Amino acid sequence: MNTANEVPREEAAVTQAPSATEAAVETALARLDLDTKTRLLAGQDRWSLPPVPEIGLKSLVMSDGPIGVRGVRWSADDPSIALPSPTALAATWDPGLAHRAGVLLAQEARRKGVHVLLAPTVNLHRSPLGGRHFECYSEDPYLTGVIGSGYVNGVQSGGVGTTVKHFVANDAETDRFTVDNLISARALRELYLAPFEAIVENAHPWGIMTAYNSVNGTTMSEHHYLVNEVLRGEWGFDGFNVSDWTAARSTVDAINGGLDVAMPGPRTVYGEALARAVRDGKADEATVDEAVRNVLRLAVRVGALETAEPAVTEPPETVDGVGLAREIARRSFVLVKNDNHALPLKPGGTVALIGAAARDARVLGGGSATVFLDRIVSPLDGLTEALPEGTLSYAIGADPNTEPATADKGFTLRAVCRGADGTVLATSGIPNGQIHWSFADLPEGVSFDNLHSVELTGTFTPRHTGVHTLGIKGTGAFQLAVNGVTYYDGVQAHDEGDPFEGFFSSPVPRAQVELTAGEPVDVSLTHVVALDEDSLREDVTITLAHQEPQRDPDELIAEAVEAARAADTAVVVVATTDRVESEGFDRTDLALPGRQDDLVRAVAAANPNAVVVVNSGSPVEMPWRDEVAAVLLSWFPGQEGGAAFADVLVGTHEPGGRLPTTWGSLTDAPVSQVVPENGELPYSEDVFIGYRAWDKAGRAPAYPFGHGLGYTDWDYKSVEVCGNVAKVRVLNSGDRPGREIVQVYLAPAERASDRPARWLAGFAVVEAGPGETVEAVVDIPRRAFEVWDEATDSWAFVKGAYNIHVGRSIADRRITVAVHV
Ligand code: BGC
Repeated sequence: MNTANEVPREEAAVTQAPSATEAAVETALARLDLDTKTRLLAGQDRWSLPPVPEIGLKSLVMSDGPIGVRGVRWSADDPSIALPSPTALAATWDPGLAHRAGVLLAQEARRKGVHVLLAPTVNLHRSPLGGRHFECYSEDPYLTGVIGSGYVNGVQSGGVGTTVKHFVANDAETDRFTVDNLISARALRELYLAPFEAIVENAHPWGIMTAYNSVNGTTMSEHHYLVNEVLRGEWGFDGFNVSDWTAARSTVDAINGGLDVAMPGPRTVYGEALARAVRDGKADEATVDEAVRNVLRLAVRVGALETAEPAVTEPPETVDGVGLAREIARRSFVLVKNDNHALPLKPGGTVALIGAAARDARVLGGGSATVFLDRIVSPLDGLTEALPEGTLSYAIGADPNTEPATADKGFTLRAVCRGADGTVLATSGIPNGQIHWSFADLPEGVSFDNLHSVELTGTFTPRHTGVHTLGIKGTGAFQLAVNGVTYYDGVQAHDEGDPFEGFFSSPVPRAQVELTAGEPVDVSLTHVVALDEDSLREDVTITLAHQEPQRDPDELIAEAVEAARAADTAVVVVATTDRVESEGFDRTDLALPGRQDDLVRAVAAANPNAVVVVNSGSPVEMPWRDEVAAVLLSWFPGQEGGAAFADVLVGTHEPGGRLPTTWGSLTDAPVSQVVPENGELPYSEDVFIGYRAWDKAGRAPAYPFGHGLGYTDWDYKSVEVCGNVAKVRVLNSGDRPGREIVQVYLAPAERASDRPARWLAGFAVVEAGPGETVEAVVDIPRRAFEVWDEATDSWAFVKGAYNIHVGRSIADRRITVAVHV
C-alpha cells in the first residue's frame, strides 16, 4: 500500500532558458512599428490576437476553461471533455489530481488550436451567495493556492498557457462590472491576493486575467499598484495580463495600469486608439513596448513565434479524459453523513432512485464555464448499468426547474442565417437552444454586414404529454412558431444592460403548446439581428427555452414516496438550476428550488434508508439533514458524474472528498453580503471569512471545513513536529482500504482578537489498508506564521506559542502539539 505523502512538491513547468526567450522577444519587438504593436494588444475578434506574419507570429488563441476547453466556436461540432466543477477539484484536496486535470486540458486545448486557457478561477468563497462559487476552489487561500498551482503546472506542462483569474476580489457577481470592493491591505494580502501569490511563486503562470471590479477605488484593468507594483514588482510575474471580457474601458489608464491586452475585439480601447494616444503624447511608447514584450514572451512559450523554441517541445503522454473525469468525480464526492453505514448499498437490495436531476443531471456550471459535451452519464444511467436488472426504480419526485430552461432534451436544432432579402447565407448545427456568437463564430459566408436574421429551427420530440412552455431570452425582435403556428411576434426590450443578458436573464414565456409524448413537432425561433451601435460589442446571444408540462407537485411527491416505500434504499438526487446558481448574478438564498425539500422529507418519512445526493456547485441548505440516513455532495460532477456516482454507491470506490468550504445556513453564515451600496461593497469582516468567521462568531455550521467521510475509519496515533514538518501517524481502523486527508491547523496559544482562532497550515494525503498504520508528512510553510503588517507594508513573522492541531476537519481535531516559534 502506498504510504507516501502524495502532495507533490510542485515543480513549475520547464520554461526555455530566459535569455533565449528574451532575445527572441527583443528581436521580434524591434521589427514592429507602433501601429502593429498596438494592434497586437487588442483582440482581432472574441478569442484571438492578430497574427504578424512578417515576424513569424501566429494568431494567439484563447478559450474558456476551467473544466474543459470550449474552443473558439459556440457550436456542438467540436465537443470538449467536461471535468467536475472547480469546487469538486478542490474537494479532492489533491494537487496531483489537479495537475493531471491540467495535462488533460492542455491536450484538449492543443487539439482545438487553443494556446491559452482562460482559467483557473482562484477568487475566494467569501459569501455563499456568490454566483460563481462553483467556479472557484475554496474559502481558504492556502488550499486555493495549492490546487491552483497544481492545475497551472499541469496545463503549462502541456505547452498551453493559463490566465489565473480574476485578479483580484471578483468574489461576487452583483454589479460585477462596476462594484468597488473596499478591502483592507491585510485582508487583501492574507486572503484575496494569497492564492495568486502562491501560484505565481509555485507555478509561474504565463498569464493573468484582471477582474471587472474595482478594488479600493480603482478598476482592476487600470490598477497600477496591484498589477505593476505587487504582481510584477514584488512577486516577479513575467506573464501577460489580459482584461476580463469588455472590462478595459480607457486607453491611457489601462496601459499605465499594466493591462497588456484588451479583449474581446475588434473594437477595443487599444489598437488604433492606443497608437493615437502615443502620438498625442498621452501614453509612452516604452509602456506599450513592455506590454508587447509580455505578449511576445507568451507567444514564445506557447510556440506561436516561429523564431523561438517553445517552453514545451515534448507534450506529456495522452490522458484518457473519460477515465480521468470519472476518477476526479468520485474523489471529489463528499460524504458528509452516513448513519448506520447506509452507504455503500448492500448487495442485492432494491433501490428507488428519485429526483429530476437523477435523470437530467446538472454536470457543469453556467456562463463562460460552459462547454459542449459529447455525452453525459446521469445518475440514472450510472446505476442502471451498475445494478442487477429489476432492482432499480425511478421517479421524478420534484422538478427543480421553476421556469423554462435552455431547450435541450428532445430538441434537434440548427441555425439558419439569412440576408435582408431572405437569402440563406449559411446553416450551422447548434448544441441546444442557445447561441452566443461573435463575428468569429459566425458560420462560413456570414458577417455582421450581410446577416439580417438567425432562425433556430428543427424538431422537438416531447418526453411527456401535456402543455409545454416555450420561452425566449435575449433582446430585440423575435418570432416563435410551433408546427407553423406563430405564438409570438414582437420585440423584447433591454433589461439591466448586462452584455450577456441573452445568457443570464430570465426567459420570457411566449408559447403554451399542447403536445403528445413521442410525436415530433417543428419549432422555429427567428431573431432579427440589430447591433448595438454604441457598445463595443458585436454578437448574437439568444436562447430558446423550454419547460415540461407541469404536473401536480403533490402527485409527483406521492409517486416518489410510493417508490421509496417499496425499495430497500431510497436515493434522492436534489439539485440547483442555472437560474439559481450561475455566472452573471448572485444567489438570493441557499434553498433548494421548487419542492425538493418537501420531497426529501416525505421520502425520509417513508424509508429509513434515505440517501440524499446534492447536485450543486456550492452550498445549499439541508433543513432535513437530521431526518435522512446519508448525505453525499456531488458538486457539478462533470460528464462522467453518473458513472462515478454508481462507483461510490455500490462501493467499488469510496467517496474521497473533504469540504473545501463550510456548509451552513444563510442565516448563520457570518459573511454573506454581496449587494453593494452606492457602488461600494465594504469587506468589513476583514480577515474573517469562511471558517475563520464561523469560529469568530462561535457558531457551528451544518458541516465544517475539511469534513468528509470515507468507507473506513481512522485513528490518529501520534504527531511529531520537527522544524517546519509535522509527521502524523494514522491507523486505518476500519475493514477496507481507504485514503485519508490529514489536515494540520495552526492556532495561536493565546487568542488574539485580530487573528483567526486557527487556520489551515498544511495537509497530506495517505492511503492505507485495514489495520495498517501510515505516516503523513505535512510541510508547514513559514507564511502560516506570518501576518501582513499594514504599518510597515510587509509580512511579519509572529513569534510565540502556538498549538498545532491535526485531524479530520477544522472541527474534528484529534491531536494537539504545543510549539514555540
Ligand atoms: C468572464 C471570464 C471569461 C470571459 C470570456 C467573462 O464574462 O468573467 O471569466 O473568461 O468572460 O468568456
